[in-house]
Amino acid sequence: MSKNFAEHCERNKQPILDQLAIHFKSSRRVLEIGSGTGQHAVFFAENLPHLIWHTSDTHKNHDSINAWITESQLKNIAPPVTLKIGRDSWPDVNADAVFTANTTHIMQPEEVQQMMTLVALNLPEMVFSASMDRCWWMGITPVKAIGNLIRKSGLRDLAAFVQSKS
Ligand SMILES: C[S@@+](CC[C@H](N)C(=O)[O-])C[C@H]1O[C@@H](n2cnc3c(N)ncnc32)[C@H](O)[C@@H]1O
Repeated sequence: MSKNFAEHCERNKQPILDQLAIHFKSSRRVLEIGSGTGQHAVFFAENLPHLIWHTSDTHKNHDSINAWITESQLKNIAPPVTLKIGRDSWPDVNADAVFTANTTHIMQPEEVQQMMTLVALNLPEMVFSASMDRCWWMGITPVKAIGNLIRKSGLRDLAAFVQSKS
């Protein structure tokens, strides 16, 4: 199994953890969308032991994610499920929170919309992070704040959908 490494994860993992410790305080099961190398997942699972951390990504990244998980020997992290937003259905992992980092600039705009819709439909709350090293954060109670986020993204139709649910 090949363990990939991303330098940016080393740089941003601590400030992200500081936010997750606040926003995921009452959460139990986190679905990470686009786990990439698996570095973030292992670091957050290790430092937030009250959580079960569910990794996901397209199949090409599973080897690396599994390698990080195996090496960590952590019990509160689950092997990756195959999830490509826009292609695969929402995974049946009973997630009550979602984390995703550095994914929306990679996804197609319609995939980002679909991800936000799926999160709004499936979860009580989420924390959202976007961009590379210029991280910005929103700690969120569902629908209202997602509406703000979506308006910022210029996804007006989805904002209307979300507002209609609030
Ligand atoms: C730049 S990497 C970020 C990985 C990791 N989250 C990090 O911060 O290092 C972008 C990730 O998004 C995933 N990705 C791209 N399109 C996706 C989609 N439609 N659904 C789910 N994941 C996707 C890629 O496979 C990749 O792992």
